[in-house]
Amino acid sequence: MERVSALIQQDMQAVEARFRKNLTSDVPLIGQVGEYLLSCGGKRIRPMLLLLAAKLCNYSGEHHIELAGVIEFIHSATLLHDDVVDGAELRRGNRSANAVWGNEASVLVGDFLLAKSFSVMVGCNSFKVLQLLSDTTTQMAEGEIQQLLNTADLGIDENRYLDVIRDKTAILIAAACQVGAILAEVSPQQEAALREFGLEIGTAFQLMDDALDYVADQEEFGKERGHDLEEGKMTLPLIHTYSKADTNEQNEIAKIIEIDELSEVDLKRVCDLIEKYDGIEYTRLRASERIELAKVQLDIFPDNEIRNALCVLADYVVARNK
Ligand code: IPE
Ligand code: IPE
Ligand code: MG
Ligand code: MG
Ligand code: MG
Repeated sequence: MERVSALIQQDMQAVEARFRKNLTSDVPLIGQVGEYLLSCGGKRIRPMLLLLAAKLCNYSGEHHIELAGVIEFIHSATLLHDDVVDGAELRRGNRSANAVWGNEASVLVGDFLLAKSFSVMVGCNSFKVLQLLSDTTTQMAEGEIQQLLNTADLGIDENRYLDVIRDKTAILIAAACQVGAILAEVSPQQEAALREFGLEIGTAFQLMDDALDYVADQEEFGKERGHDLEEGKMTLPLIHTYSKADTNEQNEIAKIIEIDELSEVDLKRVCDLIEKYDGIEYTRLRASERIELAKVQLDIFPDNEIRNALCVLADYVVARNK
């Protein structure tokens, strides 16, 4: 991963500077929350993908920096909103913005980031990019709303779960890759290949996030372990386990998923069942399959350092522990 970062180090520094500049506002709270977001960091996977995709397509203009910043801005806005919706108190190893400033401030600063993203996008003079990112943010909202409707619904199967994670997570990652291709005006086949690549790794990314929610080291992960269960989120480790469990075990899960304040004992019971039925292994396997499908998409590009870096990033998605 260090070698991947080194390839785009200068561009990433420019993206950070742009990110900071776009946080400028006369309203002090926006600057405060913005500084906090910047200081807490994040993996910056989405801008990295956009920059690498643009490089793979030999883009030689300037808009990739601005748009990589926009993608991370949209991501940050969704995290601000997501932590309110999920009632999360930890983000990136620190108190979440809603825990520090409250839900109202988080929702409104999230709105600012989203609105600002569109102003910046308009300045990039690409109707195609504007169309793509407008459709993407619309679909992300649909994914989050569908997930809300699925809360504690034990009838949710793997396919319905996959629809949600495609919408809420994978399509932004796909868009990041596709924007690189659009900027460089490559062939429709190459553009579609980069989008597919992003969709597959984006799906794997959320699959792993959902596995890590049950098994991660909380320090490393930087988010509360077991929080999805507490919030009644139907994610694949649980869906798989529920589908394999016997009737008594299913009844136990049904009771626990309704509990608002989960005890250590309840969490441990569900984790034991997930272990019994290999729920984490099953999820990891589904994620690994996606990564292999993703890498094949890049075969239509020349075999070079940049293509290799995208494959390293793809592998990182399943190997990560934060
Ligand atoms: C978190 O995304 C939200 C999900 C889609 C799982 P990241 O794991 O990319 O978050 P940061 O930006 O690195 O903190
Ligand atoms: C991420 O899902 C959804 C978004 C697109 C924001 P999660 O709710 O699982 O993300 P984390 O675990 O809080 O980062
Ligand atoms: Mg969340
Ligand atoms: Mg969420
Ligand atoms: Mg999560």
